[in-house]
Amino acid sequence: MADASDAVHSLTDEVLGRLAGCTDARFKQLMTALVTHLHDFAREVDLTGEEWMQAIQFLTAAGQQCTDKRQEFILLSDTLGLSMLVVALAQARASGGAQGATPATEATVQGPYYWEGAPDRPLGFDIGEGVPGEPALYTGRVTDTDGRPLAGALLDVWSGDGEGNYDMQMADNTEMRARGRFRTDEQGRFWFWSIRPSYYPIPMDGPVGRMIERMGRDPNRPGHIHMMVSAEGHVPVTTHLFVADSPYIDTDVVFGVRDSLIVPFEQHEPGTAVDGRPMRKPYWSAHYDFRLAPGPSA
Ligand code: BEZ
Ligand code: FE
Repeated sequence: MADASDAVHSLTDEVLGRLAGCTDARFKQLMTALVTHLHDFAREVDLTGEEWMQAIQFLTAAGQQCTDKRQEFILLSDTLGLSMLVVALAQARASGGAQGATPATEATVQGPYYWEGAPDRPLGFDIGEGVPGEPALYTGRVTDTDGRPLAGALLDVWSGDGEGNYDMQMADNTEMRARGRFRTDEQGRFWFWSIRPSYYPIPMDGPVGRMIERMGRDPNRPGHIHMMVSAEGHVPVTTHLFVADSPYIDTDVVFGVRDSLIVPFEQHEPGTAVDGRPMRKPYWSAHYDFRLAPGPSA
C-alpha cells in the first residue's frame, strides 16, 4: 500500500497504466501527454485543493458563458496563446514539403466574428458604405509561392468598424456590415474599399475577462482586417492585415500579430483614388500581396 508521499510520484504511472486498453494510437498519445503534463503541473506548483476548486469553478463559469454567439473556451484558448500555437503548427505542417521561392502568407487566428455567406462583390466595391470609420482602399495580388498570379482566387473579408465594433456584436445583428467576397482578376489582382479598422477589446464580461484583469493584462487587439484567401490547388490561409501604427500592435491579447502581416496605411487627401474613385474626403490605402502554397485546397 503506497503512502501519500509515494502517491505524489507513483500516481502518474498508475493513471497512464489504465491506457493499456486504448486502441486509438493518436488518442492514447494525446491522453498520455495530457495526464503527464497535468500531473507535472500540480507537482510543480504544489497545487492546493482550494486552488483546484477555483479552477473548476472558473471552467464551469466558462461553460455557462457559452451561447450560440459566444464561445468562452475559444476565448480562453486565444488569450492563453494556444489558438495561435495550433495555427502556427498547422501552417508549419502544411508547408513541410512545399517548394517555393518565398513562404506562404502567414496564418493567424480566425476569431469569433467570421460569418459564413458574405455576399460576392465585384472588384472595387465598397463594403464600408454606411459603416462608421474612415474609408480605406485595399489593393494587392494573390500569387503562388513562386510569384505566379492566381486568377479567380477568393478573398473572404471581414472586419470591425472604425470604432472597434463588429456587426455580430450589435443587439440587432441580422445585417452583415464590412464583409464581402472578392475574386482576383486575370493578373491575380484585387482591390476593394472598406474602412480603416480600429483596435478593440475582446469580450471582458465573463470569466476570461476576469482572468485577463487578474493577470494584469491589456484586453485589446490592434486594428486589423480579416481575410480568408483561397485558390484551386493551393492551401487556403486564414489571416489578418494589421494596421502598422495601431495602438496595441505589440501587445495583442490573443498573440495573433506576425511582423509579415503588419501593413502601413497611407493617408491621402481628397481627390481621385488610384482605382479612379473620386473621394471628397481624406482616405487611407493599404497594399498587400498574398502568397499561397501549392497543396490541397480544402
Ligand atoms: C478577432 O479578431 O475577431 C478576435 C480574435 C480572437 C478573440 C476575439 C476576437
Ligand atoms: Fe477581429
